[in-house]
Amino acid sequence: MAKTLVIYYSRKGQNYVNGSIVDLPKGNTEVCAEYIKKAVGADIFEIETQKAYSTDYTQCTIEAKEELRNDARPELVKMLDSVAEYDNIVVAGPCWWGTYPCAVFTQLEVLDFSGKKVFPLMTHEGSGIAGAPAALKKYCHGAVVGEGIAIQGADAAGSESKVAAWAKKNLA
Ligand SMILES: Cc1cc2nc3c(=O)[nH]c(=O)nc-3n(C[C@H](O)[C@H](O)[C@H](O)COP(=O)(O)O)c2cc1C
Repeated sequence: MAKTLVIYYSRKGQNYVNGSIVDLPKGNTEVCAEYIKKAVGADIFEIETQKAYSTDYTQCTIEAKEELRNDARPELVKMLDSVAEYDNIVVAGPCWWGTYPCAVFTQLEVLDFSGKKVFPLMTHEGSGIAGAPAALKKYCHGAVVGEGIAIQGADAAGSESKVAAWAKKNLA
């Protein structure tokens, strides 16, 4: 059986869900990452920034836009230095202005993905998978990019069967 790692970023706090702001104790992407873990026995690695993004939704969108404009690489609490022991790597994150948060790129850029298959999972509020496949093609040097999956954030909690079916089809 193939060995899979899920690398994910997910933000707790205020988020925009179906038109209103709600406070999420657990981020949407984290919920989906845990479904993959359960479906195929994947290992899991959480990307955490040293400087937390604002829990206030609007303020966070401003911070994120600024980072993207500057092509920033926010410092992380801990970094993975290798994915050598895995066959498949799922990169899961929220859609922030059409792509992953810059913190995801901080981690991806330092890894060698030669001979690996990478798969995008993106949670969103309308943009779908957006720029996730293109970002993996750009930042996961040496990898083949497989079929991705998009989950609307508001549906994350109810997405277990969809995520598990995708995981079993692509990662087993
Ligand atoms: C800074 C920021 C930017 C966002 N930009 C987009 C966007 O461009 N398109 C979209 O569909 N959703 C956007 N969203 C909504 C998130 O992608 C969505 O709520 C996601 O499920 C959050 O995942 P998380 O709880 O794991 O962080 C944005 C949210 C934030 C906080």
